[in-house]
Amino acid sequence: MTELLYPVPAQAKQNSHLTPELYEEMYQESINDPDTFWQKQSSILNWAHQPTKIKNTSYDKNNVDIRWFEDGELNVSYNCIDRHLKTQAQQTAIIWEGDDPSKDKHISYQELHDQVCQLANGLKKLGVSKGDRVAIYMPMVAEAAYAMLACARIGAVHSIIFAGFSPNAIADRINNCEAKVLITADEGRRGGKTVPLKSNVDQALTGNRCKTIERTIVLRNTGSDINWHSQDVCWQELIQDCTSICEPEIMQAEDPLFILYTSGSTGVPKGVVHTSGGYLVYAAMTHKYVFDYQPNEIYWCAADVGWITGHSYMVYGPLANGATTLLFEGIPNYPDINRVAQIVDKHQVNILYTAPTVIRSLMAHGTKPIQDTERTSLRQLGSVGEPINPEAWHWYYEVMGNKNCTIVDTWWQTETGGIMMTPLPSVTELKPGAASKPFFGIQPALLNQDGEELSDEAEGNLVIKASWPGQARTIYADHSRFIDTYFSAYENVYFTGDGCRRDQDDYYWITGRVDDVLNVSGHRLGTAEIESCLVAHPAIAEAAVVGFPHDIKGQGIYVFVTPIDGQVTNSELTKQINTWVRQEISPIATPDLIQWTQALPKTRSGKIMRRILRKIAANEHEQLGDISTLAEPSSVQTLIAGRLNKA
Ligand code: WTA
Repeated sequence: MTELLYPVPAQAKQNSHLTPELYEEMYQESINDPDTFWQKQSSILNWAHQPTKIKNTSYDKNNVDIRWFEDGELNVSYNCIDRHLKTQAQQTAIIWEGDDPSKDKHISYQELHDQVCQLANGLKKLGVSKGDRVAIYMPMVAEAAYAMLACARIGAVHSIIFAGFSPNAIADRINNCEAKVLITADEGRRGGKTVPLKSNVDQALTGNRCKTIERTIVLRNTGSDINWHSQDVCWQELIQDCTSICEPEIMQAEDPLFILYTSGSTGVPKGVVHTSGGYLVYAAMTHKYVFDYQPNEIYWCAADVGWITGHSYMVYGPLANGATTLLFEGIPNYPDINRVAQIVDKHQVNILYTAPTVIRSLMAHGTKPIQDTERTSLRQLGSVGEPINPEAWHWYYEVMGNKNCTIVDTWWQTETGGIMMTPLPSVTELKPGAASKPFFGIQPALLNQDGEELSDEAEGNLVIKASWPGQARTIYADHSRFIDTYFSAYENVYFTGDGCRRDQDDYYWITGRVDDVLNVSGHRLGTAEIESCLVAHPAIAEAAVVGFPHDIKGQGIYVFVTPIDGQVTNSELTKQINTWVRQEISPIATPDLIQWTQALPKTRSGKIMRRILRKIAANEHEQLGDISTLAEPSSVQTLIAGRLNKA
């Protein structure tokens, strides 16, 4: 693994918020005296009532209880919009860049305010009030951000469902959080195609499947023909007679802001709950320091609003800081392979934050992805969602960034609310592929299987020793699952589910998940979720899903299935299974490889030995380890012989 060091470039030090000395001083204070540190940092927001109680957190597994700024009161949409109006009402808050390169829009803070207030009033008209849950299933249009902020304005809790999810996945999420209203659009646009959002919603709600939904707000986006039902209301008509004045609801710091579903190693996706005060302090602070954001810069986080990165770094963090944030409707290679670079030039983007999978898929085309573009506006690059391999890092640095930009490789999770470990532009010497150093308040530690803390250079399971304001507070309606998942494996620490290595310079390197969670193109997927979808297919008896190394996606999905009638079966059925998973979960969960087998390797007690399947899928069957505990060791040879390596 390369550990080449890149010094902090001179230009990164100019005007920066931090110096290495200041980082060190602030970091020490954040660990030694978190109350004082976070009280000071809370002033990044405007509070209706300034918090005086700062940190009140317990990781004791009998009583996990996490509160930050608990007597503080604020409104998140006020902080993201209203407080900027005095000085920057006409500044662009959101640049919307369409899938079609000839379409874009600049939305000023004033306009954002008016749109958000109108929709907030519309929601009130439909009977939505503080604490109600609102599901959002929207394409990448500015209205998705309006919907989030309108909920925040009236104290409703939003739950965004990624627009790539299928009807069943939509229904499950709505039912879990008992959403009262659903906000969607007729269709979305992506890569020159349309996405039938309303039709998916109709299927999700069919037969009274989601009993809690009273109304569905439908944005007319493409204007195509859709079915209208009695509970549907057109967004544009709803807000027509709504004023653009809506007093923000004053919320307690610990009132929930949103629920976001994410995959775990077992069972159905979990509704991760983030609250108002701590989340926004942390999102705003990390956005300011990690990107060293300066006033008037154009900042582009190329994430989808349906994932946590879209929440924290496309909407909440940047808007809380009064930034100009770019929201891109389309995909990185449409209509041209150099679309990302074209957008950078067109809008003079200064900061670009994207995922390694995007970089890898561009890099496969050599220098074409930057053809005819300059990218001289870029000052800072960021990477998120999965480990970035050094080759991709170098391409990002040299080709996309013209060797002019530092790269922040930011490690964090849906549950952490914001960035946890990262280089800082004016502080950290860069090692390609390292998440580097903890952010303020973050105390990482590496534990071995017995829960012993490892010192110095070491590799182990990554845990965090103390709470930080952006941390998730619970899993919606299932606090015991929250405790089981994150606070039970080890005592008194938050368990991340990631493996990690610390090198001789105290740099941290994320090595990937140590549980049964896959990371496919930066999308987080639970193997259990895909398996239960597979065994629901009438032709499948048993299924085991594992990840395998994939050049572009980082990890691919390798499926082992046994047929119900004992017949190892044909490619037609394999195609059907593919379609089945796409329909039941999402195209992002589509298997890359499906291997039919008569038997899966099991222990004598009947447990599938995934360790062995992982090795077979990765083509590392020389290192299978001990297979003597298997009920039928011979099944392994058959599996190896039938291994697939091309889709
Ligand atoms: C992985 C995305 C290496 C990690 C923000 C984590 C990373 C999971 C990085 C969370 C990174 C995220 N380097 N791995 N810079 N960033 N991960 O919840 O395995 O969608 O646990 O949050 O992505 O995925 P999630």
